[in-house]
Amino acid sequence: MPELDLPQRQATDTLMLTGFWYRALPADRVHRNQLYKATLLEIPLVIGRDRQGHPFALRDACPHRGMPLNCGNFDGENLECVYHGWQFDVHNGQCQSIPSLTSDQTLKIDRIYAGSYPCEERDYFIWVYIPDPGPSGAGFSKPEEAPDAAPQIEKFSDKYKLAYLQAEMPVSIDHGIIGLMDPAHGPFVHQAWWWRTQHSIHEKKKHFEPIPNGFRMSTHTPSSNSAPYKLLRLYADADSITTTIDFVLPNIRTETIRAGKYWFSSLTTVTPITRNQCRIDVVAAWNLFRWVPFVPELLKFVFGKFVEQDRRTMELQSEGLKHNPHLMLIDDADRPAKWYFQLKAAYQEAKRTGQPMKHPMSGPVTLKWRS
Ligand code: FES
Ligand SMILES: [Fe+2]
Repeated sequence: MPELDLPQRQATDTLMLTGFWYRALPADRVHRNQLYKATLLEIPLVIGRDRQGHPFALRDACPHRGMPLNCGNFDGENLECVYHGWQFDVHNGQCQSIPSLTSDQTLKIDRIYAGSYPCEERDYFIWVYIPDPGPSGAGFSKPEEAPDAAPQIEKFSDKYKLAYLQAEMPVSIDHGIIGLMDPAHGPFVHQAWWWRTQHSIHEKKKHFEPIPNGFRMSTHTPSSNSAPYKLLRLYADADSITTTIDFVLPNIRTETIRAGKYWFSSLTTVTPITRNQCRIDVVAAWNLFRWVPFVPELLKFVFGKFVEQDRRTMELQSEGLKHNPHLMLIDDADRPAKWYFQLKAAYQEAKRTGQPMKHPMSGPVTLKWRS
């Protein structure tokens, strides 16, 4: 009997994990001295770049009376709320001025803060660190520091190309992530005459191992029907090509393909925007075909096609999910999805108890499926 689990009975507060970096906006859409709206984990944010080009992220609500700060005036340094003109330093959120105060009023304005979030630019994206919810009474809390730097794509040479694409999906982060790591939908969702058909389905056997906060599909020669592999085969000996795929909490899938001095690397995230909406962002870096002009376009086309097929599928799935149906996870094709839920639970348990996180996998595992 296959073991059946119910993936969607998650309490809502276990849906979106705090204490991690998330991609907020593509960096090329954020210009100096301007303000942009973004939402992460249902938190409204205002994002911008100061005069020097450094990005920042603030909670999009004035600590005085909640006015959205994205409609404020920004001079490249301080952001002025449109309601009563309070001004805030955009990098730490500290209040700089309250125009209504008279000279003999001694309110300590430097103790007032608009919520501010650690913010970094990496590989085409502005990343924002979402800390664990602090004590209530925001407005006086200093910004939190991120414990580590924002994730970045692994690169194996100085010169490379970079491209990104994104798509919004009307499903929760969990369904977005399961869809991302689900090996069994390929032959049905990702069909194209130049790619593969349902008839190319065959048995696969892959080895997995635990890594901190996640799991790895161990380094292997990639399956002959993966996109970058097909491109790389034109360049390198088929046997010299290896691929490694990692998933780590909260939402990161990285794939590294190497073939001699050539490499292709991608970092894909599924970002929770609200409880029922997520966004997939794929950023890829590579050093092959750097001189051939149409390759970025070709790669974008191939990946764009896949992402659009996934997006369309999840759009349809969201119709079915509206009525909260019972769902199941089966072995072995859904085992990575099970690990994902177990990792999430282990992460939250570790937070609750203050103990080190207990990894759900005790060692390497081999999975078999047909796709
Ligand atoms: S609401 Fe922003 S200054 Fe009053
Ligand atoms: Fe897919």
